Amino acid sequence: MDGKWRCRWTWSCMLWCVSVLAYAIAEFNGKFIVMATENNSMNHKQGRRKLDDVTGSICIDCGIAEDLAYTDDKTQIEYTSDAHFIGTGTSKNIAAKFISEAPQRTFKTVRSFPEGKRNCYTLRHPEGRNTIYLIRASFMYGNYDDLNQPPKFDLYIGVNLWDSVMFDNSTHVVIKEILHVPSMDELYVCLLNTDMGTPFISSLEVRHFDHSSYRTKSGPLALYRRFDIGSTTNEIVRFDNDVYDRMWYPYNLPDSTPICTSFTVDSVNHTTYHLPSTVMKTAVRPKSENDNLEFEFDTGYPTSESYVYMHFAEIEELKENESRAFDITLNGKNWAESVSPTYLQSTTIETDQSIRGRKLMFSMHKKTNSTHPPILNAMEIYIVKEFLHSPTDQEDVKAIMDIKSHYMLTSSLGKRWQGDPCAPLKYSWNGLNCSDNGYNSPTITALNLASSGLSGTIIASFLELKFLESLDLSNNKLTGPLPDFSQLQYLKTLNLSRNRLSGEIPSLLKERSNNGSLLLSVDGNPDLCLVGPCEEDKKNIVPLVAGILSLVVFFIVLGIVLTTIWRKKCNRKPAAKQAVSSNEEVVLKANNEQFTYSQILVITNNFDKMIGKGSCGIVYHGSLNDGTQVAVKMVLQKSPQASQQFQTEAQLLMRVHHKNLASFLGYCNEVRHTGIIYEYMAYGNLEEYLSDARREPLSWRQRIQIAVDAAQGLEYLHHGCKPPIIHRDIKSSNILLNEKLQAKVADFGFSKDFSTENESHVSTAVIGTFGYLDPEYYTSSRLTEKSDVYSFGIVLLELITGQPAIIKGHQNTNIVQWVSHFLARGDIKQIVDPRMRGDFDFGSVWKVVEAAIACVPLISIQRPSMSYIVSELKDSLKMEAAREQEGVNSIEMNVIDLEAGCGPDAR
Ligand SMILES: *[C@@H]1O[C@H](CO)[C@@H](O)[C@H](O)[C@H]1NC(C)=O
Ligand SMILES: *[C@@H]1O[C@H](CO)[C@@H](O)[C@H](O)[C@H]1NC(C)=O
Ligand SMILES: *[C@@H]1O[C@H](CO)[C@@H](O)[C@H](O)[C@H]1NC(C)=O
Ligand SMILES: *[C@@H]1O[C@H](CO)[C@@H](O)[C@H](O)[C@H]1NC(C)=O
Ligand SMILES: *[C@@H]1O[C@H](CO)[C@@H](O)[C@H](O)[C@H]1NC(C)=O
Ligand SMILES: *[C@@H]1O[C@H](CO)[C@@H](O)[C@H](O)[C@H]1NC(C)=O
Ligand SMILES: *[C@@H]1O[C@H](CO)[C@@H](O)[C@H](O)[C@H]1NC(C)=O
Ligand SMILES: *[C@@H]1O[C@H](CO)[C@@H](O)[C@H](O)[C@H]1NC(C)=O
Repeated sequence: MDGKWRCRWTWSCMLWCVSVLAYAIAEFNGKFIVMATENNSMNHKQGRRKLDDVTGSICIDCGIAEDLAYTDDKTQIEYTSDAHFIGTGTSKNIAAKFISEAPQRTFKTVRSFPEGKRNCYTLRHPEGRNTIYLIRASFMYGNYDDLNQPPKFDLYIGVNLWDSVMFDNSTHVVIKEILHVPSMDELYVCLLNTDMGTPFISSLEVRHFDHSSYRTKSGPLALYRRFDIGSTTNEIVRFDNDVYDRMWYPYNLPDSTPICTSFTVDSVNHTTYHLPSTVMKTAVRPKSENDNLEFEFDTGYPTSESYVYMHFAEIEELKENESRAFDITLNGKNWAESVSPTYLQSTTIETDQSIRGRKLMFSMHKKTNSTHPPILNAMEIYIVKEFLHSPTDQEDVKAIMDIKSHYMLTSSLGKRWQGDPCAPLKYSWNGLNCSDNGYNSPTITALNLASSGLSGTIIASFLELKFLESLDLSNNKLTGPLPDFSQLQYLKTLNLSRNRLSGEIPSLLKERSNNGSLLLSVDGNPDLCLVGPCEEDKKNIVPLVAGILSLVVFFIVLGIVLTTIWRKKCNRKPAAKQAVSSNEEVVLKANNEQFTYSQILVITNNFDKMIGKGSCGIVYHGSLNDGTQVAVKMVLQKSPQASQQFQTEAQLLMRVHHKNLASFLGYCNEVRHTGIIYEYMAYGNLEEYLSDARREPLSWRQRIQIAVDAAQGLEYLHHGCKPPIIHRDIKSSNILLNEKLQAKVADFGFSKDFSTENESHVSTAVIGTFGYLDPEYYTSSRLTEKSDVYSFGIVLLELITGQPAIIKGHQNTNIVQWVSHFLARGDIKQIVDPRMRGDFDFGSVWKVVEAAIACVPLISIQRPSMSYIVSELKDSLKMEAAREQEGVNSIEMNVIDLEAGCGPDAR
């Protein structure tokens, strides 16, 4: 950063401007040597920036000695060893003859992974999750293993494929970059052995971006190209010219002439993109004044979705009577009109929707009244990665991590436990079995740690693996008492034999073992008391107190339920109207119909706007010929039989019409393409709405109205349809809100009707969502409409409290437990959503709380019907409305007004 640099730079720039006439496409050849630097005013003001100043940065040189850290001469970036981020792999040096070819010191060593299918780096992002990071992994083979055979392997972020890594030769530098918003506290970068050589890595870097730049719209953005166009040096520009350490590769467009300025671009203000002046002060224009700038890229994949960012700054000083204005088309469509860059100020033009297809054809042509041709200073192209797989249930992850760190830090099994425990399923940890929930979070269902040398007591974390069906801890050196594994409601096998456990077997556990619902083996534990009476143990007081407490809670809840039932009896209104009455049906024209896949493509404009991800498919926005907005859900296809099933189901749903059910407008059923078209709901789903802090909080009246709407939809399914339909997946994310905040029940993907059964229930594979799933249905697989009632009770509790069904925290608490805890003390204020600021009628809230609690007893026959819930909710709505209009009209009047307002005709 001295005067010398500037002189040299300006001189070479001038020389370039004068002498260069034409350029062929210069491909970046994998080499970069010196970072271009300059004495620009930003650096002048702030002094030399260190990368540490840009918070949220991790710089790892893979394979260097554990305690080593150094500052790279060329980049001034400080690198540390990777030893603290990974426990496996071995350090290697690249072959001596390639050291001179290494563009940077980080490439001289690698970490290679001869063992294990999957090896993962665990990175804790410094700025927390839900903010955007640039993650960069770099590789150069350099014949480090003397095999002269560059490998090919896969690179994963967490549980999703990022890219495949392959090499042309030993000195080929491969750099993968992605812009990603992590949703979890830990980020795993994993290398997967695909049986085509040993995976290795040279360096790993993470940079943090401002929130506002590079919105990732539909998924993480993998870098395809980032060009410093018209570059006068043949060097990559990165930190510290670029505060975010993006790497800008030199590039010239065909049939263009480079131009440049010696002034600094964005010297006073920079945009949110923080573009480096070094990049922006060079550009190209067409060789001849009246030509267009035309160029194209081919991403190689017909299904790829790209985002393009073009950066402009005027670098020629235009006279008063001169101007530069141009239009840009992308794949023949107008993209930007009358672009007129400001002198020495950068502007960015970005695609606001992804561009589908492998070709990106750009054409920039000058406006007729412009005196100067178009220019282009820099551009970036990213390809959207579909990260569809969900990581393992986070409570399970925490529990299993605790188990790992408590017992197995040094064991070889523990070392192989890396990355996500369950996903991708075929790489799940040894000793674990997981549930396969499609794209939803898998959970741990079996844990086998037999003969694994575990010692000490059995820690409580095992009890946090809530979905465990089988646990084998046999043949270890475990001591101390037996925790109460009966808390694990799904547990079917528990093998604790051949340990040194002592004390008593918890009575509930014993009971489950005696009645055959749990296979318990405890033999080979000499100190364990198998038949009572056992020695008094002080520790028993704790479970006793807990037992008494839970009994108290039980009676209070029972009391509330009984009161509710009693009130229902004394207060009984005429039975709620059956929802079949014709005036409640949505008149759905005759356009229920089957669509072809090509029609779907037209409707969704080639799937260009994704609006959601459902349990078994992706939902896109679309519009019909007449302008009606629709949502199109494309179903993930599994088998020909599934297709048949889908058709039956779609046809079933066609005949279900109600103002509180999302209308089905049609479906598409072709080989490998099945989809459902339903009406578009502007406000999305209730779960999102409740959890989105940026939205205006829902008032109590809006909440009850939503509850009434959803309850009516469900009541119609249960009592208005013949045969009745059970939804099976009622949850707040399946309740959609339209632009008037009217609620409609959606996602009938799992619905079942009773047509094939004469009984009052059907037995099916258990389906539903954790937190909403009826416990009785789960254990018995007997499905009745009361399962929906249970789930609806959970939705009511969410509306009241604003909390999710599973309240995350130190322990995951079910919303029912959480609410019961406060209700036991009669403390309703503590549970009501504080965002309502106390603005509601207490009686009205109590009524909904009682209705919710009435929905969630463990035994299904104790739950009321949806008709009862609808009438309770309507009563509550009246109470709240009366309060709102108190002092304006008489209460009597209000009640009448309201009847008209929420009667069956309301739309
Ligand atoms: C370069 O920056 C230094 C301060 O870092 C300043 O003193 C010097 O004058 C600048 N040189 C030029 C040529 O602008
Ligand atoms: C190695 O591969 C890279 C990328 O394809 C290429 O640019 C380079 O010229 C190759 N080097 C040798 C020595 O073949
Ligand atoms: C720089 O930004 C400030 C505030 O954002 C604005 O007032 C000022 O006009 C800008 N200066 C230039 C040269 O654009
Ligand atoms: C602009 O004005 C200058 C004289 O001031 C003249 O030489 C030049 O040709 C004009 N350029 C155009 C494009 O009219
Ligand atoms: C060029 O024409 C457009 C309209 O076509 C107008 O908006 C713009 O101001 C004109 N520019 C100049 C420099 O005349
Ligand atoms: C885990 O899954 C494998 C393969 O499906 C099966 O053989 C094994 O018995 C399962 N283990 C447990 C503990 O359920
Ligand atoms: C429990 O584990 C022991 C020792 O590993 C084994 O011999 C026994 O068969 C297991 N019992 C059951 C019921 O699986
Ligand atoms: C066995 O006992 C447990 C605990 O009392 C109970 O929850 C479960 O329903 C019983 N199972 C059977 C099949 O009786």
